[in-house]
This record gives sequence, structure tokens and C-alpha cells, in this order.
Amino acid sequence: MKELTEKKVFPPPADFQQKARIKSNDVYEEGKDYKKFWEARANEMIDWYEKWDKVLEVDEPYYKWFVNGKLNASYNCLDRWIESGKGNKLAYIWEGENGEVRKFTYKQLYEEVNKFANALKSMGVKKGDIISIYLPMIPELPIAMLAAARIGAPHSVVFAGFSAEALRSRVEDAGSKYLITCDGYYRRGKILNHKEKSDEGIEGLDLKKVIVVKRAGNDVPMKEGRDVWWDDVIEGKSTKCEPAVMDAEDLLFLMYTSGTTGKPKGVMHTTAGYMVGTATTMKWVFDVKDDDVYWCTADIGWITGHSYIVYGPLANNVTSIIYEGAPDYPSKDRWWEIIEKYKVTILYTAPTAIRLAMKWGEEWPNKHDLSSLRLLGTVGEPINPEAWLWYYNVIGKKHCPIVDTWWMTETGMHIITPLPGVTKLKPGSATFPFPGIKAEVRDEHGICKTGEKGDLVITTPWPAMLRGLYNAHDKYIEEYWSKYGFGKFFTGDGAIVDEDGYFWLLGRLGDVLNVAGHRLGTAEVESALVSHESVAEAAVVGIPDEIKGQVPFAYVVLRQDAKPSDELKKELIKHVSKVIGPTARPSDILFVEDLPKTRSGKIMRRILKKLAEGSKDVGDITTLRNPEIVEEIKNSLQR
Ligand code: WT7
Repeated sequence: MKELTEKKVFPPPADFQQKARIKSNDVYEEGKDYKKFWEARANEMIDWYEKWDKVLEVDEPYYKWFVNGKLNASYNCLDRWIESGKGNKLAYIWEGENGEVRKFTYKQLYEEVNKFANALKSMGVKKGDIISIYLPMIPELPIAMLAAARIGAPHSVVFAGFSAEALRSRVEDAGSKYLITCDGYYRRGKILNHKEKSDEGIEGLDLKKVIVVKRAGNDVPMKEGRDVWWDDVIEGKSTKCEPAVMDAEDLLFLMYTSGTTGKPKGVMHTTAGYMVGTATTMKWVFDVKDDDVYWCTADIGWITGHSYIVYGPLANNVTSIIYEGAPDYPSKDRWWEIIEKYKVTILYTAPTAIRLAMKWGEEWPNKHDLSSLRLLGTVGEPINPEAWLWYYNVIGKKHCPIVDTWWMTETGMHIITPLPGVTKLKPGSATFPFPGIKAEVRDEHGICKTGEKGDLVITTPWPAMLRGLYNAHDKYIEEYWSKYGFGKFFTGDGAIVDEDGYFWLLGRLGDVLNVAGHRLGTAEVESALVSHESVAEAAVVGIPDEIKGQVPFAYVVLRQDAKPSDELKKELIKHVSKVIGPTARPSDILFVEDLPKTRSGKIMRRILKKLAEGSKDVGDITTLRNPEIVEEIKNSLQR
């Protein structure tokens, strides 16, 4: 702990502070009356058809914000800017991996969204129908999301890198009758056949329509009566589609994420609270101004992209960059080239990307003029002070504050984060809860002492909080409200508060990994392994990785008739990649005779984790039914 807090503190640069939207601590004072605070934000950030009767209604563990308020998210992202004369400002500058560029003003984006909204309607989509979207980083992705929101159809975006099977389980769970996908897209110069993967995922499912964007022009089969081209369905459609008047608590979208069981859970976000929360944090945390060019490098298929590429930026009339491809294509300076080319002023990325850039070396960013940058952000996992300092010095040239934003799919918006014009930064700390939000670090005995590790718990409701898990009420209670009871939201992250009140996040506790900023349940990887015919049992643990933060390591017990071999190992790794997606690929697999288990049969992952990390002392093994296995595993790991 000492070592953490003795490091240098970085106050906001004077010129940054002078021009910052939020310059003083007063906002934290204002946040003390959190209902009043969020009500003020709801009035100033969002346009309403009808205002609310009540700011917050609690029926634990369910929360309603801005009760009976009426609004439309797409209206708030598009129409109101055109109506106030800001329609000619660029909303998105999209750069394809192959160098292609498409630019959309707010007016142009509005027209595309309206056309597609009309197309959805003409295909029979009704308010409340959940639309699944399986698209890579192309403009049609935000267009489809906004079109769905416009007509009151919640979207469920499935990250394009996910496997066919991952798509299938999400489409099925959401009960979607419509899927939006594409023919193919570019990654490191190659065309990935996305349609083939989509078709595999939805085979046998009863879908009314599959809308296919033509991105790569590769030859793909179209199923008669079901599959239609995007270009054909928008042909001749009007550029006006009246936005549906939505209730504050109508579902805006589902976002599936990993939990402690093998099955991903559908996090529910509703309209008003989510819009108020993302619009406010976008404005305050990224300090966005009229002339900013903002770039969040996340994929729109994750919550970061939903909140801070689509809804947050558009609700603030911001100009954003969307980049389709890999950071090292055609060479390792692609990102820095993009920053120079578009004079990006705000960059929001992940620690894993920073560590990778660090490994590639300063010569790549140093080839480019990065002087347009004025603010840097990170998200996704704890940032090690070394990477923080590299980001600060090499990319920010010592004049850009860094906002290390802690939040999660369930929170919808930033929760623990600096305010760049106010907060004195400590490298590696996400600093303080956003105004209006209270958090604490506790364990079963109560609030932890300064410097002591515990569970991060959020103790005030916040507007963009999840409203439940789709079709999984019990799971919702179990995951978030059972450990400390109602009113104390259990995040699943470990944390420490230091003597200055700074929060230091320590990553996920328990059975969820964070691989390069992507959340992955160990149980998901285990169930993928066990679905292979040769596997009897599997245990997966996270081990540290220099670039990705963590990677899965698997212990596998084979069935009687299967023999361990390098080929089988490779096959299993490939199998996991096919079932879940490449991020889930185990870094290594160890074939074992048995797994350490308690008398009640519970696998002791704690021991397996220590073993995989190479630690000699694995702790107490006296409660094991089969303690001898520990020594055996140790020996085979050394071999
Ligand atoms: C988990 C949530 C919402 C961002 C994208 C990931 C970790 C996120 C930080 C940060 C330390 C962080 C947490 C959290 N995390 N941001 N700034 N410092 N850890 O969303 O997939 O829902 O994952 O990401 O462990 O629980 P997600």
C-alpha cells in the first residue's frame, strides 16, 4: 500500500483546468443530495416529451428512475441537434481498415437512421421486439442501434468477434426474430466471412428476417424469404420516421456479459436513466467541447462502445472517430497515424492496448504529431502505474490528464473516475466516485480499514444502473444483492481505499477473468471444454499475462478412451475458440488425472490458480479429499 501512495501526484495542468467544464470540487457537494443532483442533470442533458413525476422509485432490488418521463433516445442523439442548427457538424468519421473513409454529419446520420427505421417497420418490427445485431465496426452498426431505438425496439448487439455458438445462445435467450449482420469485413487485410458464421449461429432458429449489410463484397449465400440486403430494404424509404414516445423505463437494450455460471446473462438497460447517466459522464469526465475530435477505440459490441461511442457522444453533439480494423495494420503506427490525420483531441482506450503499444516501442507514436491530444482515458482493467506513466509521457507528452474510468456492463456509465479539471491523479488509481455516487470497500465484518483489501460495493442507486437480468430474476438477486443485501450493489471487484480516500481497483474476484479488457467466466471456458467428446472434467483459472492482463489456463481430465497429446491440446484450444471466441482460448492446457477437490466435491480453483502461477506455497490443502493430487500436478507443471 505504501508503495502505491508514495508515488507522485499529478494535478490537472493549469491550462487544462482553466478551460475545463468542471473546475471545482463543488460538484461533489452538489452530489450529496443525489436525487436532486440527477434531477438537475436530467433537466439539462436530455429533451423530454414529458417530464417525470418522481425522480426515483425503489422496490428493492428494482429501481425506476424519472418515473413516467417520456423521451426517445434516438431523438436525443440526432433530431435535437438538427433542430438547433447543429446538424452540419460531423457525428462520425469512419475509417475502414483498407483506408476507405465515410463521414456522417448529424443530419446525414439522422437520414440513414430514419431510412433504416422505416425499413424495420416495413418488415413488421414492432415496439418491444428485440432486434439482434451482429455487426463489426462499420457505420451501419450505430445506425441500426439508433433505428431500433427510434421505433422502440430494444437492441441486443453481439460482438462480431464472438463465435457462431455465442451468437446462437444470445439470439435464443433474447427471443429475437430479426438479425442484422453483414457479408464480411476486414481484419489485418483479410476478409472474414461473417455471413457464414452468422448462418451457422442461427441455423434451425425461427427468424423472420436477416438483414445483411454489404461490406466486403464477398460471395455469400442468401436464404430465400429470410435474408435481405440492407441496401435493398432502405431503397426508396423516407428520411423521416417519427420517433416512438418511450417511457423512461422502457428497455433500450440488452447486453450479454459473463457471470459466474457458464451461461451469459442479459443485462437490461432502460431509456431515461441510461441516457442521463451516459450523457452526463461523457460531458464531465471527457470534458467535451464543441471542437473536440473524440476517439474511443473500443468495439461498439461491448458496453464501452454503447455508452461512449454511440449514446454518450451523440447525446452531446460530439464528433467521434470509428476505426474498423487492427492497430497494427498495415503497420504498428496505425492508431497514431489516425490521431495525426484527424487531429484527435481525446483518446479513450484500454490498458492492454497501452501495454501492447509500449512493447512495440515509442518509435511508432514518435513518428507522428500527436500534439492535438488534450485528454486521455482508460477503461477495462486496472492500469499498472508503469503503463499509466508511459501513456502520460509518450502519448500525452506530459500535458494531458488521464481519466482512469472504473465501471462495468451493469453500471452502464462511469462510476469511479477522475474529473480531469479537478482531480489530482495518482497513477493506477481510478480515484473517486463520480458526484452523486457513493461506494465503499467492505467485507463481511463491515467497512474495511484504510489500506485493507475488500469488495467494492456501490451504496447509492445511479441512473444508468442495470434494471435486472433478462428472464433471470433469481440470478439478478444472487449476483448483485445477496452478498451484502439490498442497497449495497456487489460489483465483484476487489478494491482498497488509501488514506487520501482514493480507490485502487484490484480486478475481479472469484470466477470471472478479465482477458485484455474482456470479461470471461471461468465456467464458460470450462463448459466449452467439457462439450468436447474427449473431456471428462475441466477447471480453468486466470494467470497473469504481460500484455493481456490475464489469460485462461486450463486443467483437463480426459475421458477413459482419450489419450493426452499435443494434437489434442491444439484441438481443444481450437474448440474453445470456436465455442466462445478467440479471446477465450486457453494459453495452455495441462492434462491431469484428477482435480483437487473438497470432500463435498467442489473443485479448489484457488489451489489450481496458485499452481498455474508457479507459486510454491499453495496454502492449506487439508480440506482436500485427494491432497496427493497437488504434488502430482506440481510435478507435471515442472516438466
Ligand atoms: C470489469 C467490467 C465497462 C468497461 C468495459 C468492461 C474491470 C473496468 C476498470 C478500471 C480497473 C476495471 C473491472 C470490472 N474494469 N474498468 N478503470 N480499473 N478495473 O466492462 O466487461 O462489464 O467488465 O472490468 O474488473 O468489474 P465489463
